[in-house]
Amino acid sequence: MTDTPAPKATKSVFIKTYGCQMNVYDSERMKDVLAPIGYAPTDAAEGADLVVLNTCHIREKATEKVYSELGQIKKLKEAQGGKMTIAVAGCVAQAEGAEIMRRQPAVDLVLGPQAYHKLPEMIARVHRSTGERLETEFDTQEKFDALPKARSVDGPVAYLSVQEGCDKFCTFCVVPYTRGAEISRSVDEIMVEARSLASQGVREVQLLGQNVNAYHGAGPAIEGGGEWTLGQLVRHVAKIGGFDRIRYTTSHPRDMDDDLIAAHADTPELMPFLHLPVQSGSNRILQAMNRGHTREHYLDIMRRVKEARPDIGLASDFIVGFPGESDKDFEDTMDLVREVGYCIAYSFKYSERPGTPAAEMFGQVPEDVKNERLQALQALLREQQTAFNASKVGQTVPVLVTGKGRNAGQMHGRSPWLQAVHFDGAEDLSGQIIDIEIVGSSLNSLSGKLPQMADGVPA
Ligand code: 5AD
Ligand code: SF4
Repeated sequence: MTDTPAPKATKSVFIKTYGCQMNVYDSERMKDVLAPIGYAPTDAAEGADLVVLNTCHIREKATEKVYSELGQIKKLKEAQGGKMTIAVAGCVAQAEGAEIMRRQPAVDLVLGPQAYHKLPEMIARVHRSTGERLETEFDTQEKFDALPKARSVDGPVAYLSVQEGCDKFCTFCVVPYTRGAEISRSVDEIMVEARSLASQGVREVQLLGQNVNAYHGAGPAIEGGGEWTLGQLVRHVAKIGGFDRIRYTTSHPRDMDDDLIAAHADTPELMPFLHLPVQSGSNRILQAMNRGHTREHYLDIMRRVKEARPDIGLASDFIVGFPGESDKDFEDTMDLVREVGYCIAYSFKYSERPGTPAAEMFGQVPEDVKNERLQALQALLREQQTAFNASKVGQTVPVLVTGKGRNAGQMHGRSPWLQAVHFDGAEDLSGQIIDIEIVGSSLNSLSGKLPQMADGVPA
């Protein structure tokens, strides 16, 4: 398809994004489809012509937030005399559909994650007050085909969706129901988008997918189009994509093949970071979760990944208080954390999701037990994260400068291990990868200085 230049913006859109990186990516793509019909992004809901909430359904709390936010936006809409279109997108839209408009009648349209390319058409329908205002069909390929191929990006870091959906059906998770079956984009399609990103100055690209290492898209047509793995894709993007840094997220232990592990050793552009959620350290719980891997299998992957790339930073997700989790099961999780040693990890209390098998299981864990376990786990993870950050002090690390810091004269960027780094430097460093000497660390960031400033005198 050809991309026509955007007309002069006459309307404004405010998009609020909840949840995972896939939603962040989708929000960017929604801006891309709205630009040709005259919508420019704005950073406040107040005064906006169109407000989109790109929602997350993964835990109950995330869903509740959406309804309370909608209550606030409704007031703004009333203050504007009704001159605001409210759209609910994302996984809550997929899961709850028309129920959203029943609970909050100020909502004009509801569209699931596979329907973003239809947003302009749906807005037109709302304005004519005709027809369907709900679009939650599953057709991921249609979405990928219909979205504009060129993208507008802001800054040197970008996401690139290579795979969507999940067929794993972990018993606690709504993703297979809200995002649909697993589908991989073809290498040729990905490369068109990759080149558009690189030509706009993107230096670090993060390949995205709910199950990114299950990637099995068609290889380049000129090579016959046979199925490719993520390891092949990563090497290809490194060779011809024009990026200095490549990452991928999120992976599943079942799909961590030898070739992908080898890519960590032989592809310098692939950053030394792996987010591989384990959820629990107990085999009994892993089985009840339908994870399809054991504790031993996971630990073996971690060992092999460390062997391939000794400086790799390891990350994970954990759920505490899954139905039936005993003190001993929880201790197994704590034990696994001690054994692996994480640079960062995300941990959650199990949240009952209607329609998932775990919601029907016996042995739901009381809230106070979940709280206690979460606190203990998070204390241990914080300790590891602080120690990992402190281990970089005294080292010189390459930092991709992403923009201005909070204080005057300060810039910030990210290290190969995704740590935020602050240092004093000039604005024109933005977008460059520069060596920074790390002089301090905390739980959430590193501070550093330009090496030539080591004695306070610029070189
Ligand atoms: N309750 C708590 N955490 C959940 N996650 C997914 N579903 C649930 C749930 N029902 C967590 C998992 C997953 C992350 C994105 O969210 O740890 O890896
Ligand atoms: Fe959810 Fe499991 Fe699929 Fe991850 S692998 S998205 S946790 S069902």
